[in-house]
Amino acid sequence: MLNPDQLLQKLHSEFEKHTYGVNPAELYEPISYIMSLHGKRFRPLLTLLAASIYSDNVESAIQPAMAVEVFHNFTLMHDDIMDRAPLRRGQPTVHEKWNANTAILSGDVMLIRAYDLLLDVPKEQLRSVLVRFNQTAAEVCEGQQLDMNFETRWNVSEEEYLEMIRLKTSVLLGFALELGGIIGGADEESVKLLYSAGENMGIGFQLKDDLLDVYGDPLKFGKQVGGDIISNKKTFLLIEALSKAAGSHKEELDKWISAGQFDPEEKVNAVKAIYEVLDIRKFTEEKISTYFERGLADLRSLNVEEARKASLLQFVQQLVEREK
Ligand code: IPE
Ligand code: IPE
Ligand code: MG
Ligand code: MG
Ligand code: MG
Repeated sequence: MLNPDQLLQKLHSEFEKHTYGVNPAELYEPISYIMSLHGKRFRPLLTLLAASIYSDNVESAIQPAMAVEVFHNFTLMHDDIMDRAPLRRGQPTVHEKWNANTAILSGDVMLIRAYDLLLDVPKEQLRSVLVRFNQTAAEVCEGQQLDMNFETRWNVSEEEYLEMIRLKTSVLLGFALELGGIIGGADEESVKLLYSAGENMGIGFQLKDDLLDVYGDPLKFGKQVGGDIISNKKTFLLIEALSKAAGSHKEELDKWISAGQFDPEEKVNAVKAIYEVLDIRKFTEEKISTYFERGLADLRSLNVEEARKASLLQFVQQLVEREK
């Protein structure tokens, strides 16, 4: 049984060999660009770790796992247009380096390449995997639309926010784990638990992303720190601040959210100062732990020998501590 580092190395070397297309170069170069900048690649790793709980041979899960990562990168390429994001993985985003039309079309073909990779799922499981993947992909779009809708709303509740991030982020982590379970040969109940673990961890993961967007080290984070504040994203931090702020803090927060023209740095610092007063950071950290703990509890309750799930559990614990 390979450990998480070895599985990740395996994924890296498979991606190194993988090609997406050649002509026209304007279509395919942005794909090579974003894929070679690669991030953590933890979603496909989750697939392999889940498969390895049930099978010693994870070969048949590799291409399907890569499909999850290619799909994820497609969503990032489009997300960066929607979020007007300048930086991704420490480098210019595709729409900045090329243009928005390029990012749209290269993103589209990445989604198609994700399907190509999924075709490697064993025939007996292919149809059900495609049904689940399609459901997941549509939910990601639903979450992304809610995320944009919330930019211009002030009264987003914590409950609405949690549902939005479940859709835009968690369902893909759920699918990644579920996919590994299915290919590895897990029973139906275990596949459901794997999905639930991904759903819970995904909420913790997006909460952490929101936190890093404010407090991350720009060099490690690789994205524009403060971007969510600048664009009035209804992150967990802002929603909490809006519900807790009173008096002059509330006025100040309202002023910054409704400001048409502002100095970005000034806005970020002012909003951060209000977060500080309201202890938003600590509150967010507690929420992150709650959801990761739920995910870990799901994994602990999988009905297999402890040794078989040790790698996955250990890896998830590392994910809580991430700085990028
Ligand atoms: C970024 O995902 C998008 C979110 C769901 C927060 P990652 O943090 O996994 O990004 P990479 O792939 O490692 O760059
Ligand atoms: C992204 O959420 C979720 C998807 C890409 C589906 P964010 O917009 O917070 O992700 P980052 O911070 O740009 O990576
Ligand atoms: Mg976004
Ligand atoms: Mg974004
Ligand atoms: Mg983010």
